Amino acid sequence: MRSVLLGVGGHLPERVLTNAELAKRLDTSDEWIVERTGIRERRIAADDEKTSDLACVAALNAMNAAGREASDIDLVIVATTTPDLTFPATAARVQAELGINQGAAFDLQAVCSGFIFALATADNFLVRGQAKTALVIGAETFSRLLDWDDRGTCILFGDGAGAVILEAEDGPGDRGVISTFLRTDGRMHDLLYVDGGVSETNTVGKVRMVGNAVFRQAVEHISGAMLEACARAGLSIDAVDWFVPHQANQRILDGVARKLGIDAQKVVSTVAFHGNTSAASVPLALDVAVRDGRIKPGQLVLMEALGGGLTWGAALVRM
Ligand code: ACO
Repeated sequence: MRSVLLGVGGHLPERVLTNAELAKRLDTSDEWIVERTGIRERRIAADDEKTSDLACVAALNAMNAAGREASDIDLVIVATTTPDLTFPATAARVQAELGINQGAAFDLQAVCSGFIFALATADNFLVRGQAKTALVIGAETFSRLLDWDDRGTCILFGDGAGAVILEAEDGPGDRGVISTFLRTDGRMHDLLYVDGGVSETNTVGKVRMVGNAVFRQAVEHISGAMLEACARAGLSIDAVDWFVPHQANQRILDGVARKLGIDAQKVVSTVAFHGNTSAASVPLALDVAVRDGRIKPGQLVLMEALGGGLTWGAALVRM
């Protein structure tokens, strides 16, 4: 049994926030942000636009691409750090909005690694025969967690959603999820966290980050996860056609590519126009590269991410 990726979809809010706009109210500049991060602009959800709204549009786009309807889907996983409400799960709302009236739906919280964790979780459900067709979404209104006076964090993030349809397939063929690798090290909790929450402060809180330490951890652990996912598949990193990284910072993407000797042309980068959309960033980047024709059926794609927790992971998929 294999989990075949049948379709991908994305959605971004309309509102574009440029570096120049940020520089009007913060002690920063377009040059600094571009040089240190590669980010030129990011999208920001409207006040009445919720994570589930973004998720539903991305999901419909993925369902159209896959040729699947609500009645086909029996598992919905939404990776998010910015749920509509503390409960019920945003996935439950998405399920209802899309008219999916069967199967289970739940949220998964692994911050920026959320989509990789959700993909691996769905793969396990499908391979064990516990579901047939999964809708896996990464969706965030991350802008709601930002301290707009903290120039070290608020310049990095944006809002958006991406989704894939995964379906269990039996028999011959080599398409689908080939290997995944997930890792969490809670000892690095304080490098990247939100300083509020239901149980500890009874508030929502804002993102806090030790940026340069996260940067170093990211290059090291992302590279390790990519090698591990390939090793588990018995493949060398040279066999990979496309790398679809979490879009945190262009310098992290470049650092990982340099460390592993990867041709930069094979790395999909959307960070300039999306910023870091946390759990949405990998499926959004995948969507861009599938739709513009770079990623083709049969090709090997390696996705990866690192985020708060710290969490990190990678997933190797034959499209
Ligand atoms: N504009 C101008 N100056 C700034 C800004 C800004 N927006 N932000 C920070 N600075 C200043 C700092 O205050 C500091 O000034 P000082 O020397 O006077 O104290 C100086 O720039 C250098 O600060 P560093 O934090 O060392 O700068 P660095 O080169 O590491 O860049 C950045 C900061 C962009 C946050 C970088 O560390 C980074 O991207 N880290 C990765 C973190 C990340 O991507 N987190 C997202 C979630 S995890 C993930 O997705 C992988």
